[in-house]
Amino acid sequence: MKKLYIKTYGCQMNVYDSGRMADVLAPHGYGLVDAPEGADIVILNTCHIREKAAEKVYSELGRLRPLKAAKAAQGERMIIAVGGCVGQAEGEEIIARADCVDMVFGPQTYHRLPELIARVTRHAGARVVDTEFPAEDKFDHLPGHAAAPGPSAYLSVQEGCDKFCTFCVVPYTRGAEQSRPVAAIVAEARDLCDAGSREITLLGQNVNAYHGVGPGGGEWGLGRLIQHLAAAGVERIRYTTSHPRDMDDDLIAAHRDVPQLMPYLHLPAQSGSDRILRAMNRQHSTADYLRTVDKLRAARPELALSSDFIVGFPGETDQDFADTLRLVRSVGYAQAYSFKYSPRPGTPAAAEEQVPEDVKDSRLQTLQQLIRAQQDAFNRSHRGATMPILLERTGRKPGQLIGRSPYMQSVHVYAPDRLIGTVVECRIVSIHNNSLGGDVVTQEIAGAHGVQEGVSA
Ligand code: SAH
Ligand code: SF4
Ligand code: F3S
Repeated sequence: MKKLYIKTYGCQMNVYDSGRMADVLAPHGYGLVDAPEGADIVILNTCHIREKAAEKVYSELGRLRPLKAAKAAQGERMIIAVGGCVGQAEGEEIIARADCVDMVFGPQTYHRLPELIARVTRHAGARVVDTEFPAEDKFDHLPGHAAAPGPSAYLSVQEGCDKFCTFCVVPYTRGAEQSRPVAAIVAEARDLCDAGSREITLLGQNVNAYHGVGPGGGEWGLGRLIQHLAAAGVERIRYTTSHPRDMDDDLIAAHRDVPQLMPYLHLPAQSGSDRILRAMNRQHSTADYLRTVDKLRAARPELALSSDFIVGFPGETDQDFADTLRLVRSVGYAQAYSFKYSPRPGTPAAAEEQVPEDVKDSRLQTLQQLIRAQQDAFNRSHRGATMPILLERTGRKPGQLIGRSPYMQSVHVYAPDRLIGTVVECRIVSIHNNSLGGDVVTQEIAGAHGVQEGVSA
């Protein structure tokens, strides 16, 4: 068997894609290994969202060069490939800048990996770049899942983005928005559940803009797709990432009507200043965002919310930043991510006058303190509560298992390994920085989030 090593950067869609790359290569005799040393092919599945993310790729390439030389000294070749969003954005530039790279491809061409590998192996010094947005749909060319997906699995339902927020590279790296047909999604969900997945997270860079072709030929939105997957037997459903503008009434109703839809939603606000939201081309105001949050909470009162924020966007004043803090205070998040604005080549905001680095630093610190306090309060509010936890894997300590609460909190319990892949009722007994500690109360629960007989749709 040939050895395949994949290192994944960036968002959940890249995690999904890396799994699919392994699926594409499995029939060609490649098996996954967990270290790059001695691998026949190393794929870096990269992220271009912020400058640091892209820089990491070049430093990793520096570490791979001697491994490739060591393999060559034994008369064998290590193919080094850069895939993902840096591959798409920089293409030929990577080949020019890093001489150890044999192959560059983007998020929409990895189904062609066997062909790309054949092209570079045919000639000793051959190097290839494939960053097209092909006319064919990669999903039509992907085989079934080769490896067991695990208790909680990702499923891409939508790709790309047409929104063009002025800070963001995604529309350029992932291409135009596109939704997979309902039938293809249901078939993949069925495979995942048959292979043991209890929870499926539906993925898309703009997942709630989903508008795929339904079985009868008409278009379905995400709310209807979720209803259908729940009826088909998927026990726990999540989706990410959503755009506030696409939070339609059907989807909000799904939060009310579908118990399998977990009460946690990542809904990036980016800023609490309407002036900055306009400059970002976000197409929603702070009032729109708050209205959507109110509707969601009316539909599902216990819904936990998360968000992304950017500080130091060009033109952001102290007042704009204060407005962001005010938004955070009025929503009350279970958790949130915050980033310093990072100018990205080719995006409109990169050409604007930049906020000084020290200002960005201090705003980030202030915002993160507020978010941290909200997250701590949210976690503390669960002390003593009993929640259904999906146990996903073993923990670092002997006898420890790690799972997730309905609200995406990481929960560790002491329980036998055979409970991995089951949903157990746990009482929360301790609160830690980024996790909760629980005691197993019952071992398997039936019902809405519990045991069911496979997927029948
Ligand atoms: N599609 C999602 C998010 C995509 S990128 C959405 O529309 O919200 C994930 C997060 O990275 C974004 O929510 C944003 O907060 C952050 N991000 C994107 N571009 C950035 C940049 N140039 N600088 C800093 N953060 C950025
Ligand atoms: Fe980027 Fe905006 Fe599209 Fe999200 S909606 S992926 S932030 S352009
Ligand atoms: Fe990064 Fe591409 Fe995802 S830029 S965040 S890996 S879509």
